[in-house]
Amino acid sequence: MQAVNNNPVPLLETRGLQKYFKVPKGMLHAVDGVNLSIPHQRTLGVVGESGCGKSTLGRTILRLLEATGGEVLFEGENILTYDKKQMHRMRREMQIIFQDPYSSINPRMSVVEIIAEYMIVHKIYPTQQQAFQRAAELMDFVGLARRYANAYPHELDGGRRQRIGIARALSLNPKFIVCDEPVSALDVSIQAQILNLLMDIQDEMGLTYMFITHDLSVVKHISDEILVMYLGQCVEHCGSDELFENPLHPYTKALLSAIPEPDITMRGKEIRAIRGEVTSPINPPPGCRFASRCEHACERCHRETPPLCEVGPRHFVACHLVKGEPVHV
Ligand SMILES: Nc1ncnc2c1ncn2[C@@H]1O[C@H](COP(=O)(O)OP(=O)(O)OP(=O)(O)O)[C@@H](O)[C@H]1O
Ligand SMILES: [Mg+2]
Repeated sequence: MQAVNNNPVPLLETRGLQKYFKVPKGMLHAVDGVNLSIPHQRTLGVVGESGCGKSTLGRTILRLLEATGGEVLFEGENILTYDKKQMHRMRREMQIIFQDPYSSINPRMSVVEIIAEYMIVHKIYPTQQQAFQRAAELMDFVGLARRYANAYPHELDGGRRQRIGIARALSLNPKFIVCDEPVSALDVSIQAQILNLLMDIQDEMGLTYMFITHDLSVVKHISDEILVMYLGQCVEHCGSDELFENPLHPYTKALLSAIPEPDITMRGKEIRAIRGEVTSPINPPPGCRFASRCEHACERCHRETPPLCEVGPRHFVACHLVKGEPVHV
């Protein structure tokens, strides 16, 4: 296990990060002014309903998509100003694991070739043979039997395919990994295996994760802190336990009330259905984007965008009805 890193500079930070897409009807605000920070060797869970901008946030941080505005600081340096050469070096430090690794891998390559690919592209070893040798070691590391080395991904089940995706992401020895719904397509029993593997790897390699999911029970298990997104914006961000014990934003409360209750005596609990129309992310008007669905919304909520405020130690909320100190970027 790695020593705890107490570096006061977060491994990753975003300031006012924006990603807009030009669409026929105007500008779609997929990520709209997100400020977040992830300390070294910690996991930030990112949750929110489909289309709220989770994947776009992850990809913009990694510069797989070019940001419209704002900053992405990696160990204190704004990587959005990096040129191609600097970014090529930076790519080793930041990786992504997808929901369906099959969509991101070449089906005509064997398992060992897929895992060795980045090491060959980045010329990590003098010979390809050494890259294949390292790939075989990575297979051991992620619990993939070496007898699958020459198999093709379509011959393997979802759990084993995800292990290939993880081994490939680890192959360049990164510091930061965006995990974009890595277990959402897997059976529940396999989900637990993959989550445990990711947590063991984090401990062993001292990794920092941004873990994207729409499933709050998954994110609770793996995250130190959780960021709740709604239509491109952060509405609440705090410690994982704090979010479940003391949710403050009406959207977070609604999300939590919708988690299925395993305890049969609690099944009659009130589920707050979220009613009302979803605001369009295209040219959104000022005001709180959740206001049209919020039972507590007042006139000010429809008029003024609530700033993200610190309401307790590392507990941030963007809601006019919750008092706190605005966070200045
Ligand atoms: N290339 C693109 N061009 C135009 N709009 C896009 C593009 N990519 C994403 N969007 C839009 O940006 C918004 C955010 O999409 P994104 O895929 O980031 O959401 P998500 O939270 O990851 O959703 P899901 O949970 O379904 O994966 C959506 O409204 C989506 O339609
Ligand atoms: Mg997504």
